[in-house]
Amino acid sequence: MKELIVEMEKYAKEHNIPIMQKEGIAFLMKYIKANNVLNVLEIGSAIGYSAILMASSSLNVKVTTIEKNEENYMECLKNVKKCGFDKKVNVVFQDALEVNLSEENKYDLIFIDAAKGQNQKFFEKFKYFLAPHGVIITDNLKFHGYVGKSDEIESKNLRQLVKKIEQYIEFLNNNEEYTTKFYDIGDGISISVKNEQSA
Ligand SMILES: C[S@@+](CC[C@H](N)C(=O)[O-])C[C@H]1O[C@@H](n2cnc3c(N)ncnc32)[C@H](O)[C@@H]1O
Repeated sequence: MKELIVEMEKYAKEHNIPIMQKEGIAFLMKYIKANNVLNVLEIGSAIGYSAILMASSSLNVKVTTIEKNEENYMECLKNVKKCGFDKKVNVVFQDALEVNLSEENKYDLIFIDAAKGQNQKFFEKFKYFLAPHGVIITDNLKFHGYVGKSDEIESKNLRQLVKKIEQYIEFLNNNEEYTTKFYDIGDGISISVKNEQSA
């Protein structure tokens, strides 16, 4: 397992595939264990790095992960098989914004780690699949230190992307249904919990 993880880190670096920073994934794994999380939904599998590590963090946890890029999906499947997690990790090949999950499926943890400009859309779509007392966790809210400084960014594409993340943070802060805490861990993580009265 350790060997596969190192192999995946190397593959991600060589193929320019963004995966979670070590500090961020360590935080998620600890959270899963401490809170007895049993069902995780991940938006954005890439090559399965975070899905496999989350699945390894406790005996009973199961992960459903959605990926729309075929090459990444195939690599993810290969890695899940390699570590014998076929029964723990369910990899779905589809655009998460188009996927139709059964309404009966409820998740203790929904992890948003896909297209960074679409965070709010993912949040609004998947919040209906949150189990009572479940949490929505989002990664990359610092976006390599650019968040909060979007007006200083020269590249138009990057500036627009960072502005979207800034707007998402505002959306979380102003959301009356959910309370969000922000953590300066890895590339910036948030944890959103549904308020009791808006159940
Ligand atoms: C940051 S990477 C995920 C990294 C992974 N969670 C990890 O830490 O190992 C983002 C992935 O989300 C995928 N993605 C982007 N938009 C998506 C969408 N709408 N539906 C499904 N996957 C998407 C990308 O193809 C990419 O592989």
